Amino acid sequence: MSHPGILLPALVAHRGYSAAAPENTLAAVRAAFDAGATWVELDVQLLGDATPVIWHDQDVRRCSDGRGELSKLSLQSARALDVGGWFCDRYAGEKMATLDEMIALLDELGMGVNLEIKVNKGRDANALVDAALPPLMERIPAERRIVSSFDEKALRRCRTLAGPDRLALGVLFGATPARWQTLCEELEAFSVHPDWTRLKRSQAMAMVEAGYKVLCYTPNDPSAFEPRWAWGVSSAITDQPETFKRFLDQR
Ligand code: G3P
Ligand code: MG
Repeated sequence: MSHPGILLPALVAHRGYSAAAPENTLAAVRAAFDAGATWVELDVQLLGDATPVIWHDQDVRRCSDGRGELSKLSLQSARALDVGGWFCDRYAGEKMATLDEMIALLDELGMGVNLEIKVNKGRDANALVDAALPPLMERIPAERRIVSSFDEKALRRCRTLAGPDRLALGVLFGATPARWQTLCEELEAFSVHPDWTRLKRSQAMAMVEAGYKVLCYTPNDPSAFEPRWAWGVSSAITDQPETFKRFLDQR
C-alpha cells in the first residue's frame, strides 16, 4: 500500500480555529493560520443546487441568522445568510464558504486540509463525493490533503475515484467497531480518526501497529489528552490549537 508522503502535524484546527472564529468559515481558516496551525479539518456538504459548501450541520439554524435545511438552499440564498454574527459582532457579515473559495484560500496559505465528507441524514453520499473530490484533488497537492468520513459509502466512492497513491483516506469512528481493521484494509485507508474519549489504548496501539496514522477528534484539554501521545497518536484535531500548542511547547 503506497500513500502520499504526508507529514502530519501534531495539531489540526477543527472546523478551522473554531474556538476563535465562526466554524468552517474562511475567517476560521485564516485564524488558524494566524495562530500557527498548518492544517485544518473542514466539513463539506452540498446545497440544494449541488454546490459544495463548507458546513457541518444538516440545517443553518445554529451557525447563521437563517433557518431551514441546507439541502433546500440555492447558492444565492445561502450567500444571503450571515454565518459570522452568531459567533460575535466582529465576524458579522461573514458569508458561507463554497468549497471552491476554501480551496483557493488553502492554496494561498499553503495549508493542509482534512476534508470531512459530511453525509447528513437523507443526503446522497455519492453525489457529494463526485462534486467535492475532483476539485480538491486537482488543486491541493496529495501531500496536503486527507479526505475523511464516517460514511462508508462515501469512503468507498472516494477510493473508486482515486487510487491509494493519490488520495489519503481517513476513516472516522465514534466507538471503534470490532471490524475497524477489515474496513480500513478494504478502503486502503491512510488514517483512522477516532473520538478521543472512546479510544482505548489497546485499539490505538493496534492501529499504529497495523500501519495507520491515528488522528483523534476533538480533544480541547491538552493535559487530559496527554497520555495519548505515548499510544502513538499522530494528531489532535482540536478547536483549541493555541492552548494545545502552548501545552506541548512547555512539556
Ligand atoms: O473530523 C473530525 C470531526 O470533525 C468529526 O466530527 O461532528 O465535528 O464533524 P464532527
Ligand atoms: Mg468534522
